[in-house]
Amino acid sequence: MSLTPFKLIQKELETMIPKEELNLLPKKWEKLGDILVIKLPASLESFSDKIGEVYANILACDAVLVDTGGIIGRFREPEIKHIFGRKNTETMHHENGISFHLDPQKIMYSSGNMKERKRMSTISNPSETIVDLFAGIGYFTIPIAVYSKPKKIFACEINPAAFRFLKKNILENNVENIVEPLHGDSKQISPKEIADRVVMGYFHETSLFLETAINALKDHIGIIHYHDTFSDKKIPESPLDQIQTICNPFDRVAYLLSHYKIKSYAPGISHYVFDIEIKERDN
Ligand SMILES: C[S@@+](CC[C@H](N)C(=O)[O-])C[C@H]1O[C@@H](n2cnc3c(N)ncnc32)[C@H](O)[C@@H]1O
Repeated sequence: MSLTPFKLIQKELETMIPKEELNLLPKKWEKLGDILVIKLPASLESFSDKIGEVYANILACDAVLVDTGGIIGRFREPEIKHIFGRKNTETMHHENGISFHLDPQKIMYSSGNMKERKRMSTISNPSETIVDLFAGIGYFTIPIAVYSKPKKIFACEINPAAFRFLKKNILENNVENIVEPLHGDSKQISPKEIADRVVMGYFHETSLFLETAINALKDHIGIIHYHDTFSDKKIPESPLDQIQTICNPFDRVAYLLSHYKIKSYAPGISHYVFDIEIKERDN
């Protein structure tokens, strides 16, 4: 019977690391193009070069990075350490028929958000204009452009490294007639009164951008995909209240169409997305 990749990795490292550490080797990993990202416990750090080499060989990767601190700051930059292979870790990752140029040392890519990227890919249609307030490398913008073919997507991104990949990914996926990349703070650069739909794929005080989102909607009417982290006990009242408060001066009402948990964030707190329809008030 053939061994699983993890068993092969353990076997290969048997003679290189203490026996009692073998079970601490990472059983899960993230493969982005030909770059592998793993997490290592502190006790294995001194063996990281050997570990990197074995993981790379068995999982057929060109470089191995260790995720040391997750994703930080408003640019959503990874804290990461290179342990094996080529130093330039720019790569091409394929998901759901989309090609993403990215560098896991410079920008985040969460496999945990794959289901949502797929759901969003067919959410629009050729009559819509969309504003993506947090486009990143095109996580939502590119799948929507490829599969829903809306009239236009204005894709705002503040991080220069992510913006460079966004422009590359627009060309790579042949959606330059649909997507217009805009570099800067979406609060300042987002177009106004133009969109049928606004994508807010970010969780770091996303509520501070709700006014920008409503201003981006044509006549302040349309759909908002609102992401943030919330206490599981306050769903969906808490985000709906937040949105209604911002809608009041516009004389608009927020209706919840659907909501999904994307992933757990901390005990009792999860990353959610809310599909919210902003409508005129019925008199
Ligand atoms: C990393 S993405 C979120 C990931 C995505 N939801 C997924 O499927 O994996 C969020 C992006 O928003 C960008 N961003 C943060 N604040 C911004 C702002 N004020 N204006 C424009 N972009 C911003 C960050 O630089 C980052 O690239």
